[in-house]
Amino acid sequence: MSEEHGPPRAPTGTHDVMPPESSRWEALLALFAELAERYGFHMVHTPLFEDARVFQRGIGATSEVVGKEMYEFTDRGGRQLALRPEGTASIVRAFVQHRPAVPFRAWYATPSFRYERPQAGRYRQHHQVGVEALGTEDPDVDVEVISLAQRFFESLGLSRFSLRVNSMGDQECRPAYVEQLRSYLAERQSLLCDEHAERFKDNPLRVLDCKKPGCLAATEDAPMLIDSLCEPCRRHHQRVLEGLAAAGIDAGADDRLVRGFDYYTRTTFEFASGALEGAQNAIGGGGRYDGLVELLGGPPTPGIGFGIGIERVLLACDAEAQFAIDQPSPVAFVIDVTGGAAARDLVAELRRLGLYVERSYGDRSLKAQFKAADRSGARMALLIGSEELAQESVTIRALRDERPQTTLAIRDLLEGVATTGEITW
Ligand code: HAM
Repeated sequence: MSEEHGPPRAPTGTHDVMPPESSRWEALLALFAELAERYGFHMVHTPLFEDARVFQRGIGATSEVVGKEMYEFTDRGGRQLALRPEGTASIVRAFVQHRPAVPFRAWYATPSFRYERPQAGRYRQHHQVGVEALGTEDPDVDVEVISLAQRFFESLGLSRFSLRVNSMGDQECRPAYVEQLRSYLAERQSLLCDEHAERFKDNPLRVLDCKKPGCLAATEDAPMLIDSLCEPCRRHHQRVLEGLAAAGIDAGADDRLVRGFDYYTRTTFEFASGALEGAQNAIGGGGRYDGLVELLGGPPTPGIGFGIGIERVLLACDAEAQFAIDQPSPVAFVIDVTGGAAARDLVAELRRLGLYVERSYGDRSLKAQFKAADRSGARMALLIGSEELAQESVTIRALRDERPQTTLAIRDLLEGVATTGEITW
């Protein structure tokens, strides 16, 4: 059926996050924020859209994300803009623009837009939390960044995930290797899958990551970058592996791990969930990008970071039956059968004192209000009838246990909340 029939729906590949799922999102973000701050990262917000060149230059025009998936548009002033397909290039653009002191450590939570074929765990608007550490090439920073992602997954309760690590070399060692791989693949061109039969010439590295039988056969004995690293890259990689081992993090070396952005140098890594379907099992990934700041017009500045897909991580939590969050229930539900003005004022006071309270609206019957109170999950009802109204009091009735009800002067109730932070009786 055409999307134009019937009332409008969220666009294909996008989704709404409704309660109670939104409470889980909030809890996940709070957990990530707390952890990232502990590692010295501070939050950065950048615009959702950028000059399209930020991504064309930063990520690479031949990459899938920019070449095929980016949402690009011309605004009313004739500017070429793009919706952010990922977080890194935007943070680096902001870094170049503002030149904060280094080391500079940013964390972010952001929607990302990619025109992909939507399926479970793959969306056209997905959301990431991530970090970027700019200004140092010390391999210990690589270890910290990877550890942060690892600890985040652990603190969500996940255990069925694995980490793969590789090195993409640098401008010293990679060009010669890429040439070598290109010639190697040219001799096996007939084996390559349709997608890579010609495209391998532009970026032969991508073939290593292709899961199609032809490409797998063509690359079975292909030379690997890890064997061609220059001495500084080899030492860097060695120190990262040592650091991960010292942190007790189990990292699998994967020579074929080639991530889809051109900016990567040296360390690259990916976390996969064993509880998710193969094609969409990456719950996070990242790497070093020591040339990106320069590419976007800044001074030579190394960097490393990661992005973690919020939807994917929550799917992994579901699959592992972890990180279940109850939607918070009100502490109290105010029931007023005297017209509503007393409920209006009491609710306002209690909220001002920091409590989550609810009430009914529209002068409903006592029975209807009790039903609503019960449905809300509140622990108690604060009842105001004509007698209570006359005496400026409330009757407290427990909704979740058998405690006997009691009547309290509103003044005393509020005083109690102000000193203890709760309603006690
Ligand atoms: P990425 O691997 O493209 O890396 O995305 C990071 C994570 O976002 C993935 O591991 C996955 O969990 C999630 N993700 C990506 N695309 C989708 C999608 N279409 N639907 C649902 N989830 C998705 C980056 O974006 C880099 N900026 C990471 C990075 C930061 N590298 C260095 N710093």
